[in-house]
Amino acid sequence: MLNARLAQLNDYPFQRLAGLLKGHDPRSNDRPALLHIGEPQHQPPDFALDAIAADRGRWNLYPPVVGTPGLREACAAYLTRRYALPAGALDPHAQIAPVAGTREGLFMVALLAVTAAEGAAKPLALMPNPFYQVYFGASVMAGAEPVFLPTSAAGNWLPDLDAIPAETLERTQIFYLCSPANPQGTCADLAYWKKALTLARRHDFLLVADECYTELYYTDHPPAGAAEAALALGPGPQGHLFDNLVLSHTLSKRSSAPGLRSGFVAGSPTTIGALNRLRAYEAASTPLAVMEASALLWRDDAHVAATRALYRRKYDIADKLFAGRYDYYRPAGGFYLWLNVGDGEAATRRLWRDAGIKVLPGGYLTKPAADGSNFGTPFIRIALIQDLAATEIALTRMAQVLAAPDRDVP
Ligand SMILES: Cc1ncc(COP(=O)(O)O)c(C=O)c1O
Repeated sequence: MLNARLAQLNDYPFQRLAGLLKGHDPRSNDRPALLHIGEPQHQPPDFALDAIAADRGRWNLYPPVVGTPGLREACAAYLTRRYALPAGALDPHAQIAPVAGTREGLFMVALLAVTAAEGAAKPLALMPNPFYQVYFGASVMAGAEPVFLPTSAAGNWLPDLDAIPAETLERTQIFYLCSPANPQGTCADLAYWKKALTLARRHDFLLVADECYTELYYTDHPPAGAAEAALALGPGPQGHLFDNLVLSHTLSKRSSAPGLRSGFVAGSPTTIGALNRLRAYEAASTPLAVMEASALLWRDDAHVAATRALYRRKYDIADKLFAGRYDYYRPAGGFYLWLNVGDGEAATRRLWRDAGIKVLPGGYLTKPAADGSNFGTPFIRIALIQDLAATEIALTRMAQVLAAPDRDVP
């Protein structure tokens, strides 16, 4: 009765975490610190929340699936500003699709891109390892076989594009790439994006640039984006600048507002037109009042600069506590720490039990190799999403607990 593909979906990492911690309640008086999920706890700007509260007259209307013109224009203006695109490079009404959180958009684009010809080998979906779980779930449910591209500290935590076999690229229909990467925080440079887009055009697959952390960077210059690669390469096989490319951007991280469920994807008019057709049936849309507030947020950069400054200060704290230990490095972007603690599950259980600090075992974000080994096993992922004071307290406690001998291990 149920779709057989569902059986391929493992439990989501947070379900696995709940299982791991069951029966290991904290035995400390510390206030629990939830650092396991990338859910920013900074306050979104008042002007956006006030706009939602003031918008009282439209809850009797279905929001348009394609978003409002004002929202699409604000999204296009944001991309144009952020990536210095020439005026007119992006048609807001043909190339922007507001989505109910980019998780929705990332899932739906797999249904657009993946198609299996009768009797042909199964199409492939490429993604980095570690990976955002939605790439995997979307690929499987669309009928593709996921291929996990290895990453390592030595390779700057990005997949080696030159190492992807030609036979793999020939069967590829979608490639998800995240920059800054979750969890490692590495940013792809322009040359990397250009190479990825060139491969997409040469082998006719869709490159999905998940840039949800692109505003959270700690380098002198903002990270390069896939839109800049499109600009540098020029139009693709169908004669459009955004051929073979979808960009994904969200207010969840940029504006610390995951509860809004508001993001957008951008692409060629053909891709976005197809997505709009598909979404007319699926129809997860953001309420009108939220679309209005979203447009205000995309047009404002000041609150984002303040947010970035806060994360920088949290990394200053992490530098002091972890430098020289656990393979710590200060990431170029994002809001995670990716620490090698030897045994990620054991450390996660212990941090929860001894200090009420919840983190995520790295192995829950990585795919084991065919021999069962899992390179993510030694790691934990820590999301620096609590406010500054709470983050400082939690990281200080974490450093103490990790450095102390485990009293429960003989
Ligand atoms: C890599 C990555 N992509 C996409 C998302 C989706 O964010 P949202 O659906 O809130 O826009 C997340 C959220 O954690 C993420 O980490």
